[in-house]
Amino acid sequence: MKGENPVTPVDGIPLVAMDAAIEVADLRKTYRGRRTGEVRAVDGVGFRVEAGEFFGILGPNGAGKTTTLEIVEGLRKPDSGEVRLLGRRPWPHSAELTARIGVQLQASSFFEFLTVTEQIETFARLYGASRERAAEMLEQVGLAEKAGVRCEKLSGGQQQRLSIACALVGDPELVFLDEPTAALDPQARRNLWDLMRAINADGRTVVLTTHYMEEAEALCDRVAIMDSGRILAVDSPAELIRELDAPTRVTVAAGQLDEDRVCELAAGDEFVLDGDEVVFETRDARKLLTALASEGALEGLAVRTASLEDVFLHVTGREWRE
Ligand SMILES: Nc1ncnc2c1ncn2[C@@H]1O[C@H](COP(=O)(O)OP(=O)(O)OP(=O)(O)O)[C@@H](O)[C@H]1O
Ligand SMILES: [Mg+2]
Repeated sequence: MKGENPVTPVDGIPLVAMDAAIEVADLRKTYRGRRTGEVRAVDGVGFRVEAGEFFGILGPNGAGKTTTLEIVEGLRKPDSGEVRLLGRRPWPHSAELTARIGVQLQASSFFEFLTVTEQIETFARLYGASRERAAEMLEQVGLAEKAGVRCEKLSGGQQQRLSIACALVGDPELVFLDEPTAALDPQARRNLWDLMRAINADGRTVVLTTHYMEEAEALCDRVAIMDSGRILAVDSPAELIRELDAPTRVTVAAGQLDEDRVCELAAGDEFVLDGDEVVFETRDARKLLTALASEGALEGLAVRTASLEDVFLHVTGREWRE
């Protein structure tokens, strides 16, 4: 399953084709339960993640993200399909692969009677990492002052950060993070963004699932949008947004323009006169904004271009709810 890489020259410098960190082809997994019946959690998924890439998987609850990750990580056996993780089959379990990857599970469970330090040092020993490295990781995720606290006494967000520190303590080449910023406060989330960027800037491949569109837009080189066990779109956030070819929405306060003038300014584009505001949907925002400025009609101005959220809505037909 060796796929050819598109090799694009940048500034005249030919890029060397990257190695794949992950190759997945036609993956399938159905859960069978007496009460739940059959659930096709993963239904023909294929994708490729390049070494050094920051790859995101987006999708609503139950889309199949965690199941896909668990199969790629070698924690779950697929019904069918092919997976190569760093060039090897992750199933059955391979100790050599485990040493090269870091996994932060969606539902982390710690040894409850251990302190934060004891917990991360347990992971460090498993990976052959030093105690200094363990302490450094606690520092990086802002848990140094909780070192002596028992894990069960940590808040949800602090447990989340500890599980990321444990995933990174072995200095892995490839890191899987399953909703690492869920339940974090905005400040802690931003701190983790910096940490994730730093991990990736070090040359590590990062695979992230998230429910936060702006997070995916800010961090990921490419994202896969998943729903009902299938991947519906894969590309860079910028390219997905560009392909959507959505108009720019320009809002101004009503009352500055009479209806005839609004019609003229819209020049055939869509507009909505909605009580105290006018919303234009234009493909030539520059022209419209210049016209509005020369009318002196800029009160209440808001300009909104398409986002990854609009792409999600378009490809899944669903509203995004965090
Ligand atoms: N161990 C299991 N046994 C039976 N069904 C399962 C199991 N794990 C997941 N499922 C079902 O498989 C589907 C996909 O679940 P999965 O956890 O992969 O989704 P997800 O995209 O990670 O969702 P979330 O955003 O909520 O984490 C869901 O319908 C879920 O109920
Ligand atoms: Mg999940």
